[in-house]
Amino acid sequence: MMHVYKTQAEVLHALADYIVKAAENAIAIRGRFTIALSGGNSPKGLHELLASSAYKSQVEWSKVYFFFGDERYVPADHLDSNALMAKKTLLEPLHIDPLQVFAVNTALTPKEAAADYQKTIEAFFAPGLPVFDLMLLGLGDNSHTASLFPYTDVISATDSGIKEVYLHEQKVFRITMTAPLINQAYHIVFLVFGAAKAEAVHHILNDPEDFDQYPAQLIKPVHGELVWFMDEGAASKITA
Ligand code: 6PG
Repeated sequence: MMHVYKTQAEVLHALADYIVKAAENAIAIRGRFTIALSGGNSPKGLHELLASSAYKSQVEWSKVYFFFGDERYVPADHLDSNALMAKKTLLEPLHIDPLQVFAVNTALTPKEAAADYQKTIEAFFAPGLPVFDLMLLGLGDNSHTASLFPYTDVISATDSGIKEVYLHEQKVFRITMTAPLINQAYHIVFLVFGAAKAEAVHHILNDPEDFDQYPAQLIKPVHGELVWFMDEGAASKITA
């Protein structure tokens, strides 16, 4: 399903409304709402909107549990940290109890950090399997999502879990959810802005499957729905 709007503001309001509704449903059914946030720049505006007076009273935030679809392997106070960005733009403004937030422990080695985060997630969802209510994803202009980057080993991961991945170009490790774990979620949402992403969106939606080249094609919900929230720029190269 695709929602395309002229402006970023319209995209963000539509997505914020979608998240409010998903949270209401999850809390009504399961007594909680589990969300995996994405990193980078796109989510910042969404976070600020959710924390604004227009939205902050629409969700029972004390019943929301925050996780991260991926994390850069940097110290928790590093500017590139996805958890730090979420803290500044969403979690602190909403006064979220740190006990409701599960971030990657990047003080461990990359391998240990991935294993530790997987254990944390499995313990949280036990005795059930990890199934997030909402998975928020961005899209890189090279068609990566989370830290499922082109031609990396994690593309072929078949287990629903957390892996460390080394990005040779950027010379940096990332810690990421695998596609099978992402695909368990009830609501999988791509938030994509701008004409610079149009080529990647076209590849994901219109090109034959090539997971190594276009990793975001791996995202296919097992139980739930996949929804795209985009502006016209990002959607401008989609062919019918
Ligand atoms: C990350 C993200 C990554 C991001 C895309 C898009 O850790 O960087 O999880 O997958 O969503 O790279 O990033 P922008 O929103 O900054 O374009």
